[in-house]
Amino acid sequence: MNVNTGKAAGWRGVIDRYSEFLPVTDQTPVVTLLEGNTPLVPVPRFAAAIGAKVELFLKCEGLNPTCSFKDRGMTLAVSKAVEKGAQVIVCASTGNTSASAAAYAARAGIKCVVLLPEGNVALGKLAQALIYGAETVEVRGGFDAALNIVRELGLTGLVEVVNSVNPYRIEGQKTAAFEICDALGDAPDFHFLPVGNAGNITANWKGYREYHAAEKSDTLPKMFGWQAAGAAPIVDGHPIDNPQSVATAIRIGNPASWQGATSAVQESAGSIGKVSDDEILHAYQLLARTEGVFVEPASAAPLAGLIRCVKLDQIPAGSIIVATMTGHGLKDPDIAIKQAGVTPKRAEATLESVRAAIGL
Ligand code: F0G
Repeated sequence: MNVNTGKAAGWRGVIDRYSEFLPVTDQTPVVTLLEGNTPLVPVPRFAAAIGAKVELFLKCEGLNPTCSFKDRGMTLAVSKAVEKGAQVIVCASTGNTSASAAAYAARAGIKCVVLLPEGNVALGKLAQALIYGAETVEVRGGFDAALNIVRELGLTGLVEVVNSVNPYRIEGQKTAAFEICDALGDAPDFHFLPVGNAGNITANWKGYREYHAAEKSDTLPKMFGWQAAGAAPIVDGHPIDNPQSVATAIRIGNPASWQGATSAVQESAGSIGKVSDDEILHAYQLLARTEGVFVEPASAAPLAGLIRCVKLDQIPAGSIIVATMTGHGLKDPDIAIKQAGVTPKRAEATLESVRAAIGL
């Protein structure tokens, strides 16, 4: 059976849809899980709850095949790795890149090695690496140390590095900006997103610029990136030795695409800011409760940033804002249960007992 026919006909993944903007040829063996085409969900109740008189849309990247935006870049990185005959791909990861790499390697029938910061990867992400069959190594150190080792492994020529230092990752990820323009009919006024290793802000800005140059959109957005306060090297202006945040996905002290992030912000007249863990968790829970959209903590950083911007009256009324929800909430169930702050009520298996429990 060909998965690209029948029910799934019409959408064949981001390489098929946007090939004219991507470094592929007819010879490129496309490794896809039909990623992309994610919904752009309007969230008026959340906007009202934070007092924002704007049109706010969430690009729900948690609805990709491995539940994060990483699949857009990984389909291209793995396709190009297979094209050049690579047998092993490798990455360092706070969890989502490794989940995606492991899945696409399985799909391609090649080996995947992932290096994770010990004890700091959300449960769902670890489960993904393991079940997809990646060789999973927990390193006694943070993401930055793991990435340094991966870079050195890459120099041996024995493995293909699929972190965003691999330019194909950025190329694939820029398709999110194309989809946003296609859905809105133009670029938004503002694009808010979390910043960790800074590949995604770099990629989205590249996508907006290329679409604009190709006259597929008339405007460019202001890029607003958000780091966690304990892991904000770009905002603070220097690498952070021991980055900390409840948002483990963006716990990064020395981003590989630092320069790309800085350029995106400067060229778009945007900004890069930092938000505290408390602000992140507040936005995370508020979104779930006002809209039924469950994202992982890192994805709530730009929403926390928006709350701050609204308080400071920095966003003109009527603006169209897109925020990237980079990863699904189920990636990190521990934080959700802790943040909800309640446990299920208990009842006997009788109507009376349940009625008593719910006070009805
Ligand atoms: N949000 C989530 C859910 C992420 O997993 C990441 C990065 C980011 C935001 C930040 O994106 O690095 O392009 O600035 N996760 C990487 C990983 C580091 O290993 O999964 P970025």
